[in-house]
Amino acid sequence: MSNIANTEQDAIAPHGGQLINCIANEAEKQEFLAQAESLPRVQLDQRAVSDLEMIAIGGFSPLRGFMEQGDYERVVTEMHLENGLPWSIPVTLSVSEEEAEPLQEGNWVRLDDPQGRFIGVLELTQKYRYNKAHEAVNVYRTDEEKHPGVAVIYQKGAINLAGPVWLLERDPHPLFPNYQIDPIQSRALFREKGWKTIVGFQTRNPIHRAHEYIQKCALEVVDGLFLHPLVGATKSDDIPADVRMRCYEIILENYYPKERVSLAIYPAAMRYAGPREAIFHALVRKNYGCTHFIVGRDHAGVGDYYGTYDAQEIFNEFDPEALGITPMRFEHAFYCKRTKQMATSKTSPSTPEERLHLSGTKVRAMLREGKCPPEEFSRPEVAQELVKAMQAT
Ligand code: ADX
Repeated sequence: MSNIANTEQDAIAPHGGQLINCIANEAEKQEFLAQAESLPRVQLDQRAVSDLEMIAIGGFSPLRGFMEQGDYERVVTEMHLENGLPWSIPVTLSVSEEEAEPLQEGNWVRLDDPQGRFIGVLELTQKYRYNKAHEAVNVYRTDEEKHPGVAVIYQKGAINLAGPVWLLERDPHPLFPNYQIDPIQSRALFREKGWKTIVGFQTRNPIHRAHEYIQKCALEVVDGLFLHPLVGATKSDDIPADVRMRCYEIILENYYPKERVSLAIYPAAMRYAGPREAIFHALVRKNYGCTHFIVGRDHAGVGDYYGTYDAQEIFNEFDPEALGITPMRFEHAFYCKRTKQMATSKTSPSTPEERLHLSGTKVRAMLREGKCPPEEFSRPEVAQELVKAMQAT
């Protein structure tokens, strides 16, 4: 029943070879709507809504639904799907035992959003228990509940519901409709622009000069830059997505060549799984049509759970051909006071005292006090926007 998009002309094939599309067609939608009142219901949280959406638009190709036990176990322990394809993060739908009990395998389940709106259907093929500590230790390298990704596992229900899904309709994003560019569209866009090599950039923070530096270093060697800020769920002290998107709009105006850069939202939730999430982020961007993917310092990390370059080293554990997308690794970038430019220890002769680094925590503290981060850290227009946003909260 799923439609498969034609991607033969593209620079890179989707993961698994075909771009999945499980947005219900008109006939399927009418069929689902006709049964809406009689189907058993599961209410999704925002995170599960974004997973449903990512599966439906093909961002998580080759996944066609929430993972069955075979895929789940192999992903958790071996970072591969049962069919042998690399995949590093479980994509599951968990409910409580009471919720799972009346649901029967082989039947359809109606999926509602947190407001109770009917948004999708799951064809329930399996219900299974899973071991939370085992998932946490394997995926996050810790079972400490203060890790935000691990905390989510412990809050979830005890039973995973698995099976193919359909999204009833692809609604425009409520905040960023103009930047909602799904994989089928980003692929068309890259074809239209004639880009053969495209580098994807994942981010959950406001753009600063180290980001700009690594993006532009990457762009020096490929045709196009796909800026892909994550706008799904993040931890509460991360800067909100609307502020981050405004910072991108502001910086693109004056500091980037329009014809080489494309900005789009990445609707998924943040996992903070460091190295494993770097692999996952790369595979998802491959589905969007990227041939290359930027992995800098402590990619998708949180606290001090991961080493600075763990997220780069994990790529060595995979067959590059099976991954398909090429990581572009960057060392920790900083402003070098001696040469008066952005650099890394690879390109700068500076001593540690001559390097300006600012941690996210320090920047947030400055912003809360109404102080602009220095020009060496952040473009002034972006800094002003951040101060304004922090003062408004
Ligand atoms: S992330 O959680 O999405 O990785 P962030 O938005 O800060 O967080 O980072 C986006 C990308 O930029 C990641 O690949 C990260 O490794 C990289 N990055 C962030 N800051 C630096 C820096 N100072 N030097 C090099 N790479 C960086």
